[in-house]
Amino acid sequence: MKGSCPSSLKIFRFVLLTRMLFAGHVSSTVTEDDIKCLKGIKNSLNDPDGKLSNWSFNNNSAGFLCNLVGVACWMEREDRLLSLQLRDMKLSGQLPQSLQYCQSLKTLDLSANRLSGTVPAQICSWLPYLVTLDLSSNDLSGSIPSELSNCAYLNNLVLSNNRLSGSIPEQLSGLLRLKRFSVANNDLKGAIPLSFENNSKVDFAGNSGLCGRPLGKCGSLSRKSLEIIIAAGVCGAVFSILSGFGYFWCCGRKTKCYPQAR
Ligand SMILES: *[C@@H]1O[C@H](CO)[C@@H](O)[C@H](O)[C@H]1NC(C)=O
Ligand SMILES: *[C@@H]1O[C@H](CO)[C@@H](O)[C@H](O)[C@H]1NC(C)=O
Ligand SMILES: *[C@@H]1O[C@H](CO)[C@@H](O)[C@H](O)[C@H]1NC(C)=O
Repeated sequence: MKGSCPSSLKIFRFVLLTRMLFAGHVSSTVTEDDIKCLKGIKNSLNDPDGKLSNWSFNNNSAGFLCNLVGVACWMEREDRLLSLQLRDMKLSGQLPQSLQYCQSLKTLDLSANRLSGTVPAQICSWLPYLVTLDLSSNDLSGSIPSELSNCAYLNNLVLSNNRLSGSIPEQLSGLLRLKRFSVANNDLKGAIPLSFENNSKVDFAGNSGLCGRPLGKCGSLSRKSLEIIIAAGVCGAVFSILSGFGYFWCCGRKTKCYPQAR
């Protein structure tokens, strides 16, 4: 009894101390990561209007990141990034890989810029806590990565007004918190996953190849495929008539020829 009390106290102190050390370690690397993230974004994007010109990183005071244009933090004076909203800034380039150092982001809005390239399949391992991802009105191409289903907290996924192609991945049905989803005005095709059947039409409009609810039925024939089928039918009929004639002509000849041969 005499020794057990101080030893458990020692353990408690040890746990407390390691926790504090660990917490301190984590928060300092988080800030370093956030700086790395923002520096990388600034370096990888073209910024013709200098919208990010006040993104300088030589100020060591707490919370300085939070005052940069387009940046918001979870708490004032604590450099943990909550959101990055760089809407309508004429930014061009590809989606920056350094976003992987912005793990704490809940909102990423890069809409109405001139971003090109693809939506990186790793984006949800870079930013696992995203609630809003708005990449609309850019010049993004390639397919919608099925890995977007790994952003389990997504409420808003806005990919409209790009040049995205391929089909809408079935896996996105797994995004159970999704409230807003738009892929309007892209080059998408194929069946819309069933989970979107009650969504608004406008969020799928402007894709010539998409079908299924809330748009028109899949499998209804397009004018072109109907023409092909009719043409194939007519050709088939003509061919069978001709081969029929050929058969009779041949047999007719044979029956005529046979007695002659004798
Ligand atoms: C550093 O950042 C703090 C907080 O945003 C600001 O008040 C201060 O003026 C900045 N200092 C310099 C030298 O930019
Ligand atoms: C950067 O610019 C914005 C708006 O122009 C301003 O609100 C902010 O305080 C500036 N931040 C720094 C660190 O200069
Ligand atoms: C769409 O609405 C209908 C009618 O309210 C409902 O039965 C169906 O389950 C809904 N579909 C989805 C995917 O929520």
